[in-house]
Amino acid sequence: MAQTQEETFKKMVAHCKEYGFVFPSSEIYDGLGAVYDYGQNGVELKNNIKRYWWEAMTLLHENIVGIDAAIFMHPTTWKASGHVDAFNDPLIDNRDSKKRYRADVLIEDQLGKIEDKIQKEVDKARKRFGDTFDEAMFRQTNPRVMEHQQHWNMLHERYSNAMNNNDLAELKQIILDEEIVCPISGTRNWTDVRQFNLMFSTEMGSTADGAMKIYLRPETAQGIFVNFLNVQKTGRMKIPFGIAQIGKAFRNEIVARQFVFRMREFEQMEMQFFVRPGEELKWFEHWKQFRLRWHKALGLGDEKYRFHDHEKLAHYANAATDIEFQMPFGFKEVEGIHSRTDFDLSQHAKFSGKKIEYFDPELNQSYTPYVIETSIGVDRMFLSVMCSAYKEEVLEGGDMRVVLMLPPVLAPTKVCVMPLVKKDGLPEKAREIVDMLKFDFKTSYDEKDSIGKRYRRQDAVGTPFCVTVDHDTLNDGCVTIRHRDTMEQERVKIEDLHHIIYKAVDVKNLYRKLVAADDNLA
Ligand code: GAP
Repeated sequence: MAQTQEETFKKMVAHCKEYGFVFPSSEIYDGLGAVYDYGQNGVELKNNIKRYWWEAMTLLHENIVGIDAAIFMHPTTWKASGHVDAFNDPLIDNRDSKKRYRADVLIEDQLGKIEDKIQKEVDKARKRFGDTFDEAMFRQTNPRVMEHQQHWNMLHERYSNAMNNNDLAELKQIILDEEIVCPISGTRNWTDVRQFNLMFSTEMGSTADGAMKIYLRPETAQGIFVNFLNVQKTGRMKIPFGIAQIGKAFRNEIVARQFVFRMREFEQMEMQFFVRPGEELKWFEHWKQFRLRWHKALGLGDEKYRFHDHEKLAHYANAATDIEFQMPFGFKEVEGIHSRTDFDLSQHAKFSGKKIEYFDPELNQSYTPYVIETSIGVDRMFLSVMCSAYKEEVLEGGDMRVVLMLPPVLAPTKVCVMPLVKKDGLPEKAREIVDMLKFDFKTSYDEKDSIGKRYRRQDAVGTPFCVTVDHDTLNDGCVTIRHRDTMEQERVKIEDLHHIIYKAVDVKNLYRKLVAADDNLA
């Protein structure tokens, strides 16, 4: 029987641990909730993702430069940014199970359940009517679907209003009216809904009196805003220009689930693009398209991406969208693109008392620049790559192989060199080939077990090429190269290996796609 997506997801998570991609943090002490460590293969894959992002920003754009700001920042930063007062999630506890939930997530799950009911009716009808099925008509006329849709509309409206008005009593009332039960205790014995700030805090300074409460940054963006003038002046940057940064961020997520999708310590790749006021929506559109192309160039499948425009905008934003990826648990946000107006720079000017403006020589005037932000989670990107790469294949003869069909550019190891046997000078020849390749490609060496088993091991970690050295190699200078996805093998000259591997794993292949589609790169 075919596996459900949930079962495949669980297996992928187990695979990540078994093959050195991701381990639970401090596992010998039973782990720490929603915190993970990347293993020997995971860190390579993650670094390749970061490199692809960093270079797509800073190599392909003359007017984007990088920084690496500290995680600790002056506490006033977070007053100015609004995080101290408003970076909250609505929390509710079940008195019987003592479990804590996000009230908004409970309601969104309820909305999801209604959507599932509608989808089930649609799927049933499609089966019944076959090719003649008109889904739009069915949705408009089927009484059961109409009833569910009405329920969904009513609930969605109540929920949006409660969230927009920050009405915690109404959120609780919705949970009661919808008869939402705790998944653990099965009861409706709920506390009131409270706001919970997501920032972690600690103290800086040695004495209790002199210590200052500081926060672990919940986003990397503020490190860019507070350095706007430093970078603009020292780099003699002219608007429009961008500042890119990759770094850790921390959020005390209440509902942490779905593996590395929602973590308490995670990594972001953010770029703030500073533009003239009034030109922000043009740049917003530009960055939407560029970022989607960046994702699609990896070849995970164009149909797996969609934009989700925000209906409810933060008070400082005048446009916002998410790039969502089709995870096994539905379309989920991987990246956010936000038009943040001049909110952040103005707030920092106000709280610091410093003038944060740009003199535009073409307009001969000073202004506070507007900002377009692109913000992507490294870990979510890692997860989307893993979810689409993990495959279980039944081979001729009934054997099963688990293979990670990773984009070769991102694969942790590009090539594994194997002597057919551990004698007759084959290991020495194989080592020579490793030495020839290792300056350009992450190369491994394996001489243990049968060739078949060694191929499987490399499939499981996504290595695109295996190179086998046999007795003929010593005479004809040729080796067998085996391609991961097709399992095809070809006999090639040792001196051609470099070119064959390079053609497949060169990140410039992706950059060319990005640039070709956009001759007018900012
Ligand atoms: N500076 C804007 C900002 O931080 P966000 O939508 O809160 O915006 C941006 O976060 C991205 O960071 C998300 O699209 C997601 O990929 C990632 N992210 C946010 N919270 C996360 C978490 N708890 N675990 C993993 N990734 C997270």
